[in-house]
Amino acid sequence: MTAPMERGQGRQAIGLSVLLMVCIAFLPVGASHTVQAQTVQSQSLIEKTFPHSKKCKRCHERVYEEWETSPLSKSIHSPAFRTALDVYLKSPGGKDQALCFRCHAPHVREFSDQAQLFVDQTKGGDPSLDGVACSQCHLIKHVDRAKHPPEPKYEVGGKTLYGPYKDFVQNLAHQSMESSLFQKSDLCLNCHQSVPSAANLGKANDLLGNWDQSRAVMSGKECQTCHMPQQVGESANGEKKRTIANHSFPGRLGKLRQEAAKLAVQTKVEGDKTTVTVKVQSLVPHNLPATHPAWASVVLNLEIKGKNLKTVFSDKRVYGRTYQDAQGQPTIFDFEAVKVTEDTVLKPEETREETFTFPTPKDTRTFDIEVGLTYAPLTGPAPFLQLVEAESPQGSQDSVFQPIDIVKRTENVPVGK
Ligand code: HEC
Ligand code: HEC
Ligand code: HEC
Ligand code: HEC
Ligand code: HEC
Repeated sequence: MTAPMERGQGRQAIGLSVLLMVCIAFLPVGASHTVQAQTVQSQSLIEKTFPHSKKCKRCHERVYEEWETSPLSKSIHSPAFRTALDVYLKSPGGKDQALCFRCHAPHVREFSDQAQLFVDQTKGGDPSLDGVACSQCHLIKHVDRAKHPPEPKYEVGGKTLYGPYKDFVQNLAHQSMESSLFQKSDLCLNCHQSVPSAANLGKANDLLGNWDQSRAVMSGKECQTCHMPQQVGESANGEKKRTIANHSFPGRLGKLRQEAAKLAVQTKVEGDKTTVTVKVQSLVPHNLPATHPAWASVVLNLEIKGKNLKTVFSDKRVYGRTYQDAQGQPTIFDFEAVKVTEDTVLKPEETREETFTFPTPKDTRTFDIEVGLTYAPLTGPAPFLQLVEAESPQGSQDSVFQPIDIVKRTENVPVGK
């Protein structure tokens, strides 16, 4: 059996292992060096089966560069992930070291005896192992949707990479094979539908909601339609232009979020009292936000600006979930949660009406209403926030502590007589 890439890279690989053996031979005998050498060996074994994304970059530069900007390329890198992983591993239920990696670095599924390596590299903060990279998707042969969550079946030790093309151009690095899975949501659902670590939540362990019944899905849309938009370009360097798929996976980042919701504002000024009704129409065919990590939330902010554009009133509504653990205490971790205490998530394509009442702004002929929907920054118990902050080179400036705007709307309202 030949691993993918071996035909193109075989000689280089032999060269490398000889070099490795020479290095090991010249190392002074000591436990830490032996451990280090074993680690290098384990990693190269893993990467023989799941070639590192850097190898694909050589010929698929555009795809690589798009993927590199996506959250997927950072799936085991974020301070929030590192910290949450640590909390999970120390928790009473945290015996399965591979659990989080099943989706964050899914090649662990084929190397469960190496889970410690994944943990160590993640904790180190700058893992050289891939997370959700090229081979981790393109070696998936089948997704078993009868399982909860659905499970990917990898073709291990095979030499074929699966993709969307029937009429692929042959190349020297790997064999190609068309698989319809790559144009179906099933591929994505194996990581995005539910989390095994939140199994205690039963039916509420459902990240996307009643997605199958949404208008978007009924009209034939798949996850890829919106999150891997098609364009025309080179699939591999120097090849003919054809239909390709964007690999920057727009979500919280990228323009797609402007298509997440519509905000409509209605105002009733009645003397001293004003009532504003905001209609939040979600255009997303699944829950907004998706409910993993459990602290994820979207916030509707309302601000009223009166005389000299000074804020005279503000209020907000939070869309997310709150949970309780087995002791009845609130928790922000789905792996500790046994019960949902409140659920305000925007359901697929739902329209929610929010009413705000406040004193009519004084000494002004008009006032401004600003409404905006944002992804909320990480919130939770102070000790956890401090740990995340300490883990991040950016400290309190880490991106997890910044809100991300989704859509905004401003209206100017006359106070009238
Ligand atoms: C092997 C598991 C896995 C598969 C398969 C997978 N994803 Fe993901 N996806 C993840 C993980 C893990 C993250 C979060 C990365 C991070 O931020 O740490 C993510 C993040 C994303 C994001 C960014 C979300 C955000 O908050 O901005 C989008 C969009 C996305 N995935 C879409 C898809 C689509 C579309 C597919 C199918 C073509 C897919 N994913 C398949 C694991 C997976
Ligand atoms: C079933 C697949 C799956 C499992 C198992 C899983 N995750 Fe995730 N995780 C995801 C996906 C998909 C996303 C992206 C969600 C989004 O953006 O909507 C994500 C996002 C995250 C994020 C936010 C992005 C980031 O990297 O900071 C954190 C933190 C996180 N997961 C922690 C964990 C921890 C800790 C575990 C183990 C207890 C775990 N996850 C297990 C699929 C999974
Ligand atoms: C989360 C899963 C996922 C990851 C990670 C991923 N891909 Fe893809 N890739 C897909 C899917 C799905 C398609 C087909 C999309 C379509 O046709 O709608 C695809 C299509 C392709 C194609 C053919 C079309 C095109 O856009 O050129 C190539 C080549 C490709 N991927 C290479 C790569 C490489 C190289 C990487 C790593 C840098 C990578 N992929 C990472 C899921 C993934
Ligand atoms: C020596 C150059 C080279 C390397 C290295 C390489 N590829 Fe390719 N790959 C190609 C060429 C050429 C095509 C055909 C593109 C076309 O038909 O437009 C291709 C096609 C593909 C396709 C589409 C297959 C299909 O039938 O839909 C995928 C997926 C893919 N490569 C993934 C990868 C991944 C993942 C890696 C790294 C593990 C990789 N490639 C490394 C040259 C390369
Ligand atoms: C009709 C277009 C559309 C389809 C189809 C679609 N999404 Fe989304 N998705 C969106 C929009 C719009 C957003 C919200 C704005 C944003 O974050 O980009 C979003 C947000 C997301 C996010 C990040 C936000 C969060 O709450 O964590 C993830 C992850 C995601 N979608 C995954 C998926 C998966 C998996 C599928 C398939 C099962 C899918 N989406 C199908 C449009 C779509």
